Amino acid sequence: QVINLADYRPTDFVLERVDLTFELDPTETKVEARLIFHRREDADPAAPLVLAGEDLVLVSLLFDQMEMEPGRYHVSPDSLTINDLPKSEPFEITITTMINPEANTQLMGLYRSNGVYCTQCEAEGFRRITYFPDRPDVLSVYTVNIIADKAANPLLLSNGNFLGGAGYGEGKHFAAWFDPHPKPSYLFALVAGDLGVVEDTFTTLSGREVALKIYVEHGKEPNAAYAMDALKRSMKWDEEVFGREYDLDIFMIVAVSDFNFGAMENKGLNIFNDKYILADPETATDQDYANIEAIVAHEYFHNWTGNRITCRDWFQLCLKEGLTVYRDHEFSADQRSRAVKRIAEVRHLRSEQFAEDAGPLAHPVRPAAYKEINNFYTTTVYEKGSEVTRMIATILGADLFKKGLDLYFERHDGQAATVEDFVQCFADVSGRDFTQFSLWYNQSGTPQISVETAFDAAAKTFTVNLGQSIPPTPGQPVKQPMHIPLKFALLGADGAGLAPTTITGGDVSEDVLHLTLQNQSFTFSGIAEQPVLSLNRGFSAPVTLHFSQSPEALSLIARHENDLFSRWQALTDMALPVLTAAAKAAGNGSEIVPDAVLKQTLLTVAADDSLEPAFRAQALTIPSEMDIARAIGSDIDPDAVHRARQTILGDIALTGADTFATIYQSMQDKGAFSPDAASAGKRALKNAALSYLAHASKSPTAAAQAFADADNMTDLSQALSVLAQHFPDAEETQAALSSFESRFNGNPLVMDKWFSIQAGIPGEKALARITALMAGPHFNAGNPNRVRALIGSFAFSNPTGFHRPDGEGYRFLAGEILFHDKRNPQLAARLLTSMRSWRMLEKNRAAHAKAALETISTADGLSNDVRDIVDRILEG
Ligand code: ARG
Ligand code: ZN
Repeated sequence: QVINLADYRPTDFVLERVDLTFELDPTETKVEARLIFHRREDADPAAPLVLAGEDLVLVSLLFDQMEMEPGRYHVSPDSLTINDLPKSEPFEITITTMINPEANTQLMGLYRSNGVYCTQCEAEGFRRITYFPDRPDVLSVYTVNIIADKAANPLLLSNGNFLGGAGYGEGKHFAAWFDPHPKPSYLFALVAGDLGVVEDTFTTLSGREVALKIYVEHGKEPNAAYAMDALKRSMKWDEEVFGREYDLDIFMIVAVSDFNFGAMENKGLNIFNDKYILADPETATDQDYANIEAIVAHEYFHNWTGNRITCRDWFQLCLKEGLTVYRDHEFSADQRSRAVKRIAEVRHLRSEQFAEDAGPLAHPVRPAAYKEINNFYTTTVYEKGSEVTRMIATILGADLFKKGLDLYFERHDGQAATVEDFVQCFADVSGRDFTQFSLWYNQSGTPQISVETAFDAAAKTFTVNLGQSIPPTPGQPVKQPMHIPLKFALLGADGAGLAPTTITGGDVSEDVLHLTLQNQSFTFSGIAEQPVLSLNRGFSAPVTLHFSQSPEALSLIARHENDLFSRWQALTDMALPVLTAAAKAAGNGSEIVPDAVLKQTLLTVAADDSLEPAFRAQALTIPSEMDIARAIGSDIDPDAVHRARQTILGDIALTGADTFATIYQSMQDKGAFSPDAASAGKRALKNAALSYLAHASKSPTAAAQAFADADNMTDLSQALSVLAQHFPDAEETQAALSSFESRFNGNPLVMDKWFSIQAGIPGEKALARITALMAGPHFNAGNPNRVRALIGSFAFSNPTGFHRPDGEGYRFLAGEILFHDKRNPQLAARLLTSMRSWRMLEKNRAAHAKAALETISTADGLSNDVRDIVDRILEG
């Protein structure tokens, strides 16, 4: 069943207030919902009240406290319909349902994880708790009473402020919570169990004291210190940068070990995958610290962008997610190195979102139709949504952008808003017309920009001819030209900036060319020497440039741009053609020719002590096998891509052996461990060098030594990863893997690193390794983190292993999808997206992939989630 944006209409009934009472029991939890409604003024006076439900047992139904006559209502597997309701007066419906948290393996609604009751309601999980108008435009004030066994559940939490609690006879107790802020059901949360707590306080801008609490498994309290610190920094930053203050007396985070995603922004009671809370130097990598900081901030920032202002319907998901990702990106950029953060964002955007946009699952930032909303929590909605927000900031400049956001907060506080509402605020403060810009929300596909330049020495003019085209995507064969803001700089031969006297050809603000036509020429006057154009600086627009710049021009940018992002981009632009040519050569058996300019430029940047180590580490990380495959675009042979990349890396490693040895020595940090960005950058550079050294020496000795010497998880796991990637069969590698296992087997989150490192080992033995690990003692198919670490890493990050030519990788994955679909459809659907680029493969592999997809497609009893993805992947 397809839901269409165009069909939106408000509900017939307004929900005035919600009173919930939970009597918790592992298998028989009773939920009483007292709902006060009135019919909307302009609604049909005969319209029934239709409430959504899923996997519920209806125990009783009251109308104004009296049992409802059976003829007045109708229950179906997914709804409760009530007729003959008052024309205008308020009325009360009391619904009692029975649910089974233990049996809830989907992890949507109320479930139990490790003995802790918790909830996940976004997007449509609340209907698995009680019958309800479970849609984001129904905002209401909630009171929640929780009754539970006191010994097993000393802790009873819900949204808002604590009202009180007491004993409740027979070893039970209760607690009551009241959330004064009207909210949609997807922001409801309940937690009950026995957990440890870390406490702190935060004093807001206006001087209110907020109690901060992070709940974790007993004994893990010290590992929540970094998350608490990140929370306080987020609260302060949101006040300083966006003027947003927190609005309740208490802010709580609960970490649980079974969770389908990263975390959830429930009002006042965020629930997290514990992977994104728990950290200490012994068990967390620098990446883990950065993720914790970003996700704690993201969920906190949702309090304004998502909760105070929510979405009218799920088509508007990017309204909260794109904006909140933009906010967390800015936060991390302010806390760390802005350029390095930007590089990481763009790497991620290209490898995930561009791939999505180029395949059968492509959809607009704001989709117009969906069959299963769970499948739209994508990098397009989140990350491209963030880039679209960033472009608004680029077009308006910081001051007007801030004014527009302030207007948005003022105008829509307490509402369920739309993308149009959001964009209108920026139009209103600037007087700009955003009609063409808004195509970014509605057209899918990555714009392809052609760039050609001409220099006229006599006339002292430099002309830039730009063309834009957006490839066809599912449901959108033809596109309109978009408004694409391209930041630029012109560099002279010495690398210094050139200032044109005038620029003609279209709208140009200071350092931005506004490409708005399909073909457009900008002419720069007063340019006395042949300039080098640096375009799309800072990645101002999420597009692909087709611009063949000479290696010399790219090398100039790589050495002299003052935008570090553009320097990195130039290195990537030098590397990709070399790598794709190498892959073609590897594919037809001819010799792979390394490129001298690329190698020299890369080594120069790597050795440049004036640059921050984190940036140098990024420079040394050449495009991945997936990046190369995407650049080739069709008839992909993953083995050839792998051989090509290894050959190029090997060549860099050999030439740069001394450079890498020097870097490796100079980046050793002898002091106490600190997770700060500068220290993390040194570790990143050191470990990048270690990987090249392993390549050059062809011996596991250095990595084995690094493994033995490591005093933190970043170094330890990087050394293990170098051993596993380069020397999978070496004794040193086996010894390191077992030592890691015996040291960390009590910590499942750390064992996930052990799983994913092994899952990523390339080559034909990969699948056998996966199945052996699945049969081993540490794997647990019921835990999403374990499944993602092992099976997800294999399918998403091991091209040669997964795409083996005999198709066994695909058949294995199909079996796993069908298995997981029975217990946790969202997890299964997400794993299946690893097959989305199957049409790009050479025809033998593509045929195997298609057959495996057909096995899934023809299986009985598929979930809506997997059905939707498999259909689109096979069709598109
Ligand atoms: N809103 C949550 C977050 O960004 C994610 C919820 C995911 N829900 C889902 N059904 N996929 O931050
Ligand atoms: Zn979010």
